[in-house]
Amino acid sequence: MGARVEHIGNATLYLGDCREILPTLVAVDHIICDPPYEASLHAAKNSLKGRIRRDRGAALKGLDFAPIDDIREDFVRLASDVCNGWFIVFCTPEGVAKWADCINPSSMKYKRACVWVKPDSTPQLNGQGPAQGAENFVCAWAGQGYARWNAGGKRGVYTHLVNNPERHGEHPTEKPRRLMSEILADFTSAGELICDPFMGSGTTGVAAAMAHRQFIGIEKAARYFDIACRRIEDAQRQGNLFADAAA
Ligand SMILES: C[S@@+](CC[C@H](N)C(=O)[O-])C[C@H]1O[C@@H](n2cnc3c(N)ncnc32)[C@H](O)[C@@H]1O
Repeated sequence: MGARVEHIGNATLYLGDCREILPTLVAVDHIICDPPYEASLHAAKNSLKGRIRRDRGAALKGLDFAPIDDIREDFVRLASDVCNGWFIVFCTPEGVAKWADCINPSSMKYKRACVWVKPDSTPQLNGQGPAQGAENFVCAWAGQGYARWNAGGKRGVYTHLVNNPERHGEHPTEKPRRLMSEILADFTSAGELICDPFMGSGTTGVAAAMAHRQFIGIEKAARYFDIACRRIEDAQRQGNLFADAAA
């Protein structure tokens, strides 16, 4: 069990390994997360560590956590036991089939690989081929009956800058807050309980606070956990200020 649990408004944050904490949760409405990438991308990113971008993009940082490969199967099994709605995981294009291969034998229904287009992604610094301009997120339905979302016939393509003005900048793979807000708006409803078992610096929790969703976050690294606590507390405080001003 995690050494620390923080209750911040309608968010509960666990410092620990999600494989130990997920089995202690009764049920959540949706799991929306950005797990570590596949080992191949970890190797590629770490080889770029310290390189300077000349296009004002964020400095390139190495990844100080292990790739997903060894725990993917365990994680899908534990997630399918507690999730009652959407199961959404970010991954590389190469990871889509690996996630589908784990989801298909589970009780969840694999639905689609969506795309996050990154107009300002890191250029191919050695000039030996095209740079990666997008990431994917896989969605599967863990609920009863037909899958439901709020976005009608919308295509699963989401375009957001990596180097956006709201970027916090302390986590090497921070997701844009607006990307997470768009996903929450499309796939979830106000008041529902969202779980991010690989919370990092807490971007999903910030988006959840802004959209009036309940939130459970789990993060293994104390450094990122502390950042997530501060960011989610700030987001909730700002939301309360707006509510007080409107009252
Ligand atoms: C890709 S990052 C998430 C970044 C996040 N989306 C953000 O915006 O900051 C994945 C995170 O999962 C954490 N992690 C890795 N394995 C874990 C595990 N078994 N349980 C909980 N957290 C884990 C890593 O420490 C890392 O911070």
